Amino acid sequence: MKKFTCVGDIGPLDMAVAEALQIKKDRFTYSDLGRNKTLLMIFFNSSLRTRLSTQKAAMNLGMNVMVLDVNQGAWKLETERGVIMDGDKAEHLLEAIPVMGCYCDIIGVRSFAGLKSKAEDYEERVIEQFIRYSGRPVFSMEAATRHPLQSYADLITIEEYKTKERPKVVMTWAPHPKALPQAVPNSFAEWMTAAGYDLVITHPHGYELDPAFTAGARIEYNQDKAFEGADFVYAKNWSAYNDADYGKVLSTDRSWTVDARKMALTDNAYFMHCLPVRRNMIVTDEVIESDRSIVIPEAANREISAQAVIKRLLESLD
Ligand code: CP
Repeated sequence: MKKFTCVGDIGPLDMAVAEALQIKKDRFTYSDLGRNKTLLMIFFNSSLRTRLSTQKAAMNLGMNVMVLDVNQGAWKLETERGVIMDGDKAEHLLEAIPVMGCYCDIIGVRSFAGLKSKAEDYEERVIEQFIRYSGRPVFSMEAATRHPLQSYADLITIEEYKTKERPKVVMTWAPHPKALPQAVPNSFAEWMTAAGYDLVITHPHGYELDPAFTAGARIEYNQDKAFEGADFVYAKNWSAYNDADYGKVLSTDRSWTVDARKMALTDNAYFMHCLPVRRNMIVTDEVIESDRSIVIPEAANREISAQAVIKRLLESLD
């Protein structure tokens, strides 16, 4: 594997899950694989889980790790080609990327959607430039349209907790005061349908996601109806994807907050969220603190998904 940006890069999911669970049993089996190899983690945006879990995963593999927060201590980077650089951006990504590639063996990149231009975001301009110009295997630590390390961890978690071969998984939009990208829900939909689960997506009108990601899922605008018989409830906010409203908050309707009444409609479902989560906007205290909430084991599996991905990338090095 030379890059990891989407579900298609990881190959058969049954093998990917088996590999992850084997790593989880003994995460130091491959502690020599990364000896004298360096991972560079580049953050254009904030992170808690991705930063710590990916660094830990690389350390489990014996790697050295460097972390660059682009917005803290690095030169401000220009990403557009052809721009006259007479503003506050001192360096162009087209020089910065190959330079960064000189100092490491593998690169992880976090670069969120700007939510100003749908075309720009859905071109994945930043991570695609890293793939093209770094000369190194690149993996996504959440890009503009996908968060595959999160989705891989979500898949591992569902496989660990499911009691049915084909569980009903409900991804529900929930309110949030700020405009958030569609990367997590896009990616979750892509991975859940690839896994063959019964995926139902519920959201208010106007929050339809890109059909390229949701093909194979059922869309249900009535949240109560969607929750009926669910085995897993995956809550997430996202901003509008449609052309007229791209990147906008259309609703903060707290009747969509996941609460105990709604969870009672399910088949004793587990509650999931990628975190960070805004309590009593996305989910009530009662639900996230209940014994059916698996948000912490879900976050713990971020280390495992990251380790499985970095292991594959290390194995691909010449
Ligand atoms: N879920 C997730 O990616 O968390 P962070 O944004 O804290 O990395």
